[in-house]
Amino acid sequence: MQILRVNIPGREYDIKIEKGLFDRCGDLILEIVKPCKVAVVTDSNVGPLYSQRLINSLKGSDFNPFLVTVPAGEGSKSIKMLEFLYGELLKNGMTRSDLVVALGGGVVGDLTGFCASTLLRGIPFVQIPTTLLAQVDSSVGGKVAVNLPFGKNLVGSFYQPRLVLIDPDCLDTLTDRIFCDGMAEVIKYGVILDENLFKKLENAPSRKAIMKIIDDVIYRCCELKKLVVEEDEQDLGMRMILNLGHTFGHAIEKKYNFTDYTHGEAVAAGMVMAAEYGERENITSPCTSARIRSLVTSFGLPAEVDIDKESLKDAISVDKKGKGNMVSLIIPEKIGKVIIKDTEKDNIWIQ
Ligand SMILES: NC(=O)c1ccc[n+]([C@@H]2O[C@H](COP(=O)([O-])OP(=O)(O)OC[C@H]3O[C@@H](n4cnc5c(N)ncnc54)[C@H](O)[C@@H]3O)[C@@H](O)[C@H]2O)c1
Ligand SMILES: [Zn+2]
Repeated sequence: MQILRVNIPGREYDIKIEKGLFDRCGDLILEIVKPCKVAVVTDSNVGPLYSQRLINSLKGSDFNPFLVTVPAGEGSKSIKMLEFLYGELLKNGMTRSDLVVALGGGVVGDLTGFCASTLLRGIPFVQIPTTLLAQVDSSVGGKVAVNLPFGKNLVGSFYQPRLVLIDPDCLDTLTDRIFCDGMAEVIKYGVILDENLFKKLENAPSRKAIMKIIDDVIYRCCELKKLVVEEDEQDLGMRMILNLGHTFGHAIEKKYNFTDYTHGEAVAAGMVMAAEYGERENITSPCTSARIRSLVTSFGLPAEVDIDKESLKDAISVDKKGKGNMVSLIIPEKIGKVIIKDTEKDNIWIQ
């Protein structure tokens, strides 16, 4: 088992990664909390696949679990679903000495985490992420949130889990599209901070090949995010480098109404655009964009997406990373190293 300790002062927790750990979740949770009531929150896709095994494992370790299922999909990250969750937890008599477990992808993690952070002023929370994106991105950083009609993640908080349990075997039931969606963020970690990781991915350029080294890959991504987040817990500076590909990616998601491209697909094309922009401005060493392009393509992710200048400017104008007429772009200097460049919005048109 690989164990990564995340040290947010006073709120340390472990991320435990191992193929097959799923059926030992009960015992692993028992190492950090006494037997209690456990609300297992999942969605309508993940529940039928995994919830019974988790409930059995929790019961086997003397916990008293009950299941709450929300509909699968981003629509469940809503105030309405949050209210439903509060109700289910209270109806089942949850107190602050009980435990909430999120079993699912980033949607379940964000919704459940925000519920746990606010109900009764905070109930302990354990995450069992089941998508690659949630395993490499939501496991570290403590961001939990729901969406409003005005935009995504507008109501949220920072709330650290007590434990994160990752069983890479859970990824076997993902569609190729959702698996590869998470690969975009994995590739991003290589580009921003770790050329060795990027080379490892280049040497395993398919889902099947990656699954042979997946424990190490997930561990390294979580470790890299941890290094960034420990520097910048409140998301005020260094964390910005995690946004590589996201400014352009956000413009793509918005132009296509958040339907034609997944987040990862938009970020993949966004990373290529950022590297091409950097090459044009002589910031980025030659061939960088070609390497990113080739790697994202091998995972079926788009390296380019048709987007016009106006859509790009519009999306950037409302982007959280925008300040007045300037936008902070994350540009790779080479694979493994990025810079933050404040750029005039009018000047970022990609040829
Ligand atoms: N908190 C953070 O730091 C953070 C980081 C990145 C993303 N997010 C959020 O995460 C969300 C996206 O996460 P996601 O991509 O995991 O989406 P998701 O939770 O919607 O999962 C994608 C789909 O896969 C299904 N699924 C999940 N696990 C499965 C499994 N093992 N087998 C089969 N199907 C499975 C889900 O039911 C869903 O249909 C967004 O709302 C985003 O804002 C949060
Ligand atoms: Zn992202």
